[in-house]
Amino acid sequence: MSASAGGTAGPVIALQDAAFGYGERPVVSGVTLTITPGEVVAVLGPNGSGKSTLVKGILGLADQFAGQVHLFDVPRQEFREHPRLGYVPQRHTLSGTVRATVSEVVATGRLSRQPWYGRYSAADAAHVERALMLVGLADRERVDVADLSGGQQRRVLIARALAGEPEVLVMDEPTAGVDAANQHVLAEVLARLVAEGLTILVVTHELAAFADLVTRVIVVDNGHVQFDGAATDFAARRDDVLHDHDSHHHDDELSAPAQPRQVVPRSVEVPRPGRRHG
Ligand SMILES: Nc1ncnc2c1ncn2[C@@H]1O[C@H](COP(=O)(O)OP(=O)(O)OP(=O)(O)O)[C@@H](O)[C@H]1O
Ligand SMILES: [Mg+2]
Repeated sequence: MSASAGGTAGPVIALQDAAFGYGERPVVSGVTLTITPGEVVAVLGPNGSGKSTLVKGILGLADQFAGQVHLFDVPRQEFREHPRLGYVPQRHTLSGTVRATVSEVVATGRLSRQPWYGRYSAADAAHVERALMLVGLADRERVDVADLSGGQQRRVLIARALAGEPEVLVMDEPTAGVDAANQHVLAEVLARLVAEGLTILVVTHELAAFADLVTRVIVVDNGHVQFDGAATDFAARRDDVLHDHDSHHHDDELSAPAQPRQVVPRSVEVPRPGRRHG
C-alpha cells in the first residue's frame, strides 16, 4: 500500500536559478533556494511582487522559463508523488456553479491518495472528518460551501489540503479573511503538525498569525528574492528589508525567536503527515 518511496532526508523543495511567469513573461527570476524537512518558511512581499507566481511555479502551476525545480530530490517534471504536497491556493471560489457540501469538497483532498480503481473508504472518511475538526468546521460538514463565509471557505481549503496527509503544505494567504480566533486555532493545529514533521511554505500578509511557528522568512520584491534568512535575522532587519511598502505590517511579529511552540491539547486527533520513518 505504500505509494511513496518516502523517507528522503534531503531537501523537500530545491530551486536553482529558477524563473516563473505566464505566457511570454517571466514574473519572478533568479530564485535559488532549498527547503528542508521541518522548516516553516514564510514568503512576504508587496502585492504583485510575485509571491503567488513563485509558489505556483514550484508546483508546476505557472510557466517555467529558466533554472531547475526539484521536489523531494526529483526533477519536477518527473515527480509523481503528488500526495506528498498539499496546496491551498490564494484565489479559489467555492461558491457558484457546482453545489457541494463542505465534506464533499474536503473529500476531494483524498483523491490523490486513492488508487485509480479505488473507492472512497472508511479511512478516507475518517481523514476528512479529522481535517474538518482541525480547522473547526466539524459541525458544518453537511453545509453547502457556497453558504459559508469567505473565512470559513479558506478553512475548508486548508482542511482539503490536510485531508491528503501532505508532508509539505504550501499555502497562499491561508488566513486572508479568517478572524483572529480562528487564525489562532489554525496556528496551533499547524504547530502540532510541524512537531510531527510537516514542512510549511506559506505566503502571508499576516505574519503575526504564524509568528511562533515560522523558522525562516523569504521576502520577494519586484520578482526577486530580496531576503532569505532565519526568522530571527529577519526580525532584526525587518525595517531595512521591507522598506515602506508594507509598513502596515504588524509590528510585534517575530520580535522573539521562533522557539516556544504552542501545542494543541492531546485530545485533538491529528492526521499524520505521510512521513515514513527509517
Ligand atoms: N495568471 C496570470 N497571468 C498573467 N499574469 C499574471 C497571472 N497571475 C499573476 N500575474 C502577474 O504576475 C505578477 C505577480 O503576481 P502574483 O500574483 O505572483 O503577485 P503576489 O505577490 O502574489 O501578489 P498578492 O500579494 O496581491 O497576492 C503581477 O504583475 C500579475 O499581474
Ligand atoms: Mg498572491
